Amino acid sequence: MTTDLFDVVPDVRPSREAMADGAVLLRGFARPFEAELLPALREIVKQAPFRHLITPGGHRMSVAMTNCGSVGWVSDHTGYRYDAIDPESGQKWPAMPPVLRKLAADAAADAGFNSFGPEACLINRYVPGAKLSLHQDKDELDFDAPIVSVSLGLPAIFLFGGPKRADKPARYRLEHGDVVIWGGPSRLFFHGVAPLADGEHPVMGRQRINLTFRKAR
Ligand code: SIN
Ligand code: FE2
Repeated sequence: MTTDLFDVVPDVRPSREAMADGAVLLRGFARPFEAELLPALREIVKQAPFRHLITPGGHRMSVAMTNCGSVGWVSDHTGYRYDAIDPESGQKWPAMPPVLRKLAADAAADAGFNSFGPEACLINRYVPGAKLSLHQDKDELDFDAPIVSVSLGLPAIFLFGGPKRADKPARYRLEHGDVVIWGGPSRLFFHGVAPLADGEHPVMGRQRINLTFRKAR
């Protein structure tokens, strides 16, 4: 029996997938950052623990959230906003560690968005069953900058629609280390996350963590 290159089972997931004009999925892009990234996240969560925010309509979100950066995204009965102060602690949000900043900027540049300088990193924690309904990211003042979204832990089905809520979303399976960037013509596209399937991730356990970097102002 001979072995050659063609005997290797190909990875059926291409490393890069165009999702829409201005939107791309970079599979595994965050993996080289992992060794520095995970301890940095642990420190942030110690200072600013995950909490379930209340929507302006009075619903408790199934996704737990925290932030790092000079401002963080928060929701309460008065609405959605970016705030420099963590309402739970009354303190500033933890600073954005250089490794997070670099990961976001490198991924944006790879997608064609140079000099991405986000002030905010929203950190979402999904446990099995948690989901995020279709929405637009539109609480930022600057829509020229893209959104950079990093997935860690259990795989999730990311729903990526179009400019109208009624546009039928495409479904992308996002795995540990995958990064999605959307900007330009797709910056305001509707997106969400289907209810997380149960499982146990070898590194992250029974959860999915998502980092969403935004240029907020
Ligand atoms: C978000 O839209 O804020 C999060 C998306 C995700 O968890 O993949
Ligand atoms: Fe979003």
